[in-house]
Amino acid sequence: MNKRILVTGGTGFIGSHTVVELQQKGFDVVIADNLSNSFEEVVDRIAKITGVRPDFEKTELKDASQVNAIFDKYPDIQGVIHFAASKAVGESVQKPLMYYHNNLTSLMNVLDAMLSHNVHHIVFSSSCTVYGQPDKLPVSESSPRKKALSPYGNTKAMCEDIITDVAKVNDMDAILLRYFNPIGAHESGLIGEYPQGVPNNLIPYLTQTAAGIRKCLSVYGNDYNTPDGTGIRDYIHVVDLAKAHVVAIERMLDNKCKSKTEIFNIGTGHGYSVLDIINSFEKVNDIKINYQIVGRREGDIEQVWADTTYANNELGWKAERDLDDMMLTSWNWEKSRIEN
Ligand code: WQD
Repeated sequence: MNKRILVTGGTGFIGSHTVVELQQKGFDVVIADNLSNSFEEVVDRIAKITGVRPDFEKTELKDASQVNAIFDKYPDIQGVIHFAASKAVGESVQKPLMYYHNNLTSLMNVLDAMLSHNVHHIVFSSSCTVYGQPDKLPVSESSPRKKALSPYGNTKAMCEDIITDVAKVNDMDAILLRYFNPIGAHESGLIGEYPQGVPNNLIPYLTQTAAGIRKCLSVYGNDYNTPDGTGIRDYIHVVDLAKAHVVAIERMLDNKCKSKTEIFNIGTGHGYSVLDIINSFEKVNDIKINYQIVGRREGDIEQVWADTTYANNELGWKAERDLDDMMLTSWNWEKSRIEN
């Protein structure tokens, strides 16, 4: 009998890649997603990749009765990977209440349903954004969290605290995965990042510029205290990130956790600047990118990359894919997105 995992937000960018990896490790999966920022067709594409169609339930996680109905319908759920959240930094500044309602209420409904249905394990999609601009680099899990620069970032920190407090006094363990910058796509070109409207993030804007959908990529500032003046981030291949979720849920199912809530930085440990990214993309894809240097973007930190020692040694996970592969698969996905 396969173990079943509930993946909320499982038709999204990271969620869909994680469902693929879960299925390929022999898990049964049920996806709960409200499709507010993704498409049900992703379920068919996952089935094309793995040969197994995951169960899919269109679910508004802000509605507790809908969340409970999932757990009633699938009594064999043994763990939850919770991705579902609104995640646009800029939008969260304009619509803070929508972000607090959606990201906090959804999580609390999932936790309530887990407790009432004796489901004891949750992996949570957190973010390096909780560190703000670290005082010391690379940033480790023991680095202090800083006041978030956006309601989006604040909901990530608040969700971490909610989960920690609930796990402390219940038969529940939790693993918080603090992602750095997920990019790239599955080698099949069938799933990838599908931003609605004008992309906020660098890579989709870059690939849409390469595709001629956008005229010119704006590089937000080259006057930072970095080697080439542009912002530095720890970009991680989404497949490596997806694999980290499988390792985390297996750790809990095998009762290997050493505390009720464990935190891991999921990055590569390497920082790349915006110009590094552009140069790498141009080189591996033999394409010229039209870009211009403009002013800094409000709320951006200068530079961050992960100390991954703890995840490598304790979790037994390490990122394997390099920047070239991230650039190749990003472009491959953009081309297949346009063709389909
Ligand atoms: C990366 C770098 C920009 C766009 C955010 C969230 C994080 C996660 C990922 C959800 C920065 C520069 C960007 C552009 C640019 N979100 N840039 N031109 O801001 O590091 O992280 O998205 O989970 O939580 O905080 O990602 O891709 O927007 O920016 O020059 O058109 O690219 O200044 O240096 P960011 P990003």
